[in-house]
Amino acid sequence: MKPIIYITQKLPEQAVTKLRDLYEVRMWHDDQSAAPREELLEQVKEAHALWSMLSDNIDRSVFEAAPNLKIITNLAVGYNNIDLDAAHENGVMVTNTPEVLTETTADLTFALLLATARRIVEADKTVRSGEWKSWTPMGMTGQNVGGATLGIIGMGRIGEAVARRGQGFGMNVLYHNRTRKSLEDVKYATLDELLQTSDYVVLLTPLTKETKGLIGERELSLMKETAILINVARGGVVEEAALYEALKANKIWGAGLDVFEQEPVPADHPLLTLPNVTVLPHIGSATVQTRLAMMEMNAEAIAACLDGRSVKNRVC
Ligand code: DGY
Repeated sequence: MKPIIYITQKLPEQAVTKLRDLYEVRMWHDDQSAAPREELLEQVKEAHALWSMLSDNIDRSVFEAAPNLKIITNLAVGYNNIDLDAAHENGVMVTNTPEVLTETTADLTFALLLATARRIVEADKTVRSGEWKSWTPMGMTGQNVGGATLGIIGMGRIGEAVARRGQGFGMNVLYHNRTRKSLEDVKYATLDELLQTSDYVVLLTPLTKETKGLIGERELSLMKETAILINVARGGVVEEAALYEALKANKIWGAGLDVFEQEPVPADHPLLTLPNVTVLPHIGSATVQTRLAMMEMNAEAIAACLDGRSVKNRVC
């Protein structure tokens, strides 16, 4: 009997074709939705490998239902959706997809920063709706990017790639991180210093017990009235209710959000009622080339594990 791989969303055939020769590949059939929870719990009963998405909640009950499971490979660099303690206790290795998405995610971060600073989405809507009546001196004015201070919280690979983009735009770059790094022309700042002095605060930290709710009412109150918050990390890093209040009262100037505490974010979420927020549906790594490269990494991790070879990109 061939080892069984379960994939929780429909992937392009080219991503799984090599695996089909050696393994039994079972894949959720619908490319518009994820496998429902009951289906996931049913499928892992027999699976030797699970190929999960960042939207799957891989908690202890998944491990308890999966006696044959050897590996979980997550289509993301983040892995906060997987209970690593349960993985460890059940002897299941976990892998992610670092590096291949670094530049792509940094591009999206910068695109969101520029779009928020220059009100691109709002301006587009104004033109399409016929509200653009005439050119006005202060119409659709945004915030300067060149010469502004960029503060990056979470200085991993993506943070460094965002810093390079900021430097290319003539920004002064600060960072805050658990460990200090020696980076050219990028200065370390405490969290409070960074919040007080940055024009753009970019969140790139993983979601952990330590970073959950890192940006709340107190932190937002330290930011400048003209500052913009960009979150491309995980929704849980920010207290959304506090962010809503800060934006509504114009205590900060704007926010660009690619991630939310609950995804998909409900259409009636208060943040979506605000004009000074630019929102995206968690698309940091979403280019054709990058997603296919991530999938290749996942497929290789599964094959290496099931063949008894050494497995790269293990997080557990
Ligand atoms: C990931 O892969 O974890 C990021 O959210 C990229 O968007």
